[in-house]
Amino acid sequence: MTSQPVTLVVLSTDLENFNDIRAAMASDPRARILSGGNDVEQVFEEVSRHQPSAAIINLGRNAEQAIGLIRRLTAECPGTAVISAARETSADLILQSLRSGAKEFLRLPVDPDELRTVIDRICDYRQGREEAKKRGRMTAVFSSKGGCGASFIAANLAASAPARTVLVDLNLEAGDLPLFLGLNPKHSIADLVERHGRIDERVVTAFVTPHSDGLHLLAAPREVDPVEKIRPEHVLEALERLTESYDHVVLDPQHTFDPITLTALDQADEIVLVLSLDLAAIRSARRSLQIFDRVGYPRSKVRVVVNRWSKRVDLGLAQVEEFLEEPVFGSILSDYEVVVGSINMGTPLVLSNPRSKIAREIHRISRALWTETAPGEGEKPRRSWNFFLKR
Ligand SMILES: Nc1ncnc2c1ncn2[C@@H]1O[C@H](COP(=O)(O)OP(=O)(O)OP(=O)(O)O)[C@@H](O)[C@H]1O
Ligand SMILES: [Mg+2]
Repeated sequence: MTSQPVTLVVLSTDLENFNDIRAAMASDPRARILSGGNDVEQVFEEVSRHQPSAAIINLGRNAEQAIGLIRRLTAECPGTAVISAARETSADLILQSLRSGAKEFLRLPVDPDELRTVIDRICDYRQGREEAKKRGRMTAVFSSKGGCGASFIAANLAASAPARTVLVDLNLEAGDLPLFLGLNPKHSIADLVERHGRIDERVVTAFVTPHSDGLHLLAAPREVDPVEKIRPEHVLEALERLTESYDHVVLDPQHTFDPITLTALDQADEIVLVLSLDLAAIRSARRSLQIFDRVGYPRSKVRVVVNRWSKRVDLGLAQVEEFLEEPVFGSILSDYEVVVGSINMGTPLVLSNPRSKIAREIHRISRALWTETAPGEGEKPRRSWNFFLKR
């Protein structure tokens, strides 16, 4: 937990102060500045987008604006610890910044001992919030085009997750995940939703279908279940309860941006965006990325996975990356026989044939997603307005 870097966004109206903060942070291996600028609105946007560990707000020349920003960040970005900083300032202003929500005050130029203390406090704050949250990690395996292998990947990622996992079938009209796991569910998400407002761990346990100790399925409604009554707020409550009962929640949503899918994607810590190597799927993935941008998901929330990859296809992964302007996080080989064989057998490939190339790549993706990174980690700083950061 504390080994994750302390990420920072900095507001400074003064270049000298910014350079001072930057030099000080460079001396602490835990700290990493994501971006910095002199515009209050842009800093607010950057903090909302990156959700850094801390925002350093130099009270500087326009102290009133800076205090306003501290208030706003404290109210609207509670995951970020706000630190006020100033070169020479009155005790009154320091107090005002602390009363507006700043967790600490950093004197400029930065003293190395004080910096260590401030970074320790940021780590404490972050850890406190993580412990208070203690919720399972939610991953949506999404494709805006059907048939790309989203359900196959969702089932196999869930089966390769390192801890107690629930796989949730959000294809409300035509869920097929029981086939992938060889299950015959007696209950579905429709039963859970009927208990709206009263869902607790007992209710969750009653309506999931176990595959093994570590893997359960919350099935899509059966033919007899009324689907039209299921609303986004019901799904939201169900997902929240599931994150309290499981370490991992893996979602297989529909291939559209309907309100239920958007609710699920909003809730997810990360989205595995699945595409295959045909033009229609690549275009569709690009449209999805544009929609994610529009609804404000940070790009660090999205991991692109190419399925049915083959050297024989003319389109290379580099071209996909160029077209999507996103790195490819994983690439799963095309092997119809192996994949269909596992689906027909009703056992996820990572369990039935763990040494196959496809299973090994899915294991690698699962490790890279869940045991090597925290949600949102690995973000590249955006360059558009980082005029202070010469990268
Ligand atoms: N890596 C792969 N190699 C070969 N075939 C694959 C691969 N991945 C998936 N498939 C095949 O593609 C088909 C569609 O897979 P799947 O049902 O997982 O896709 P989907 O995106 O969930 O589609 P939909 O939800 O529209 O049914 C299946 O028949 C499956 O066997
Ligand atoms: Mg599917």
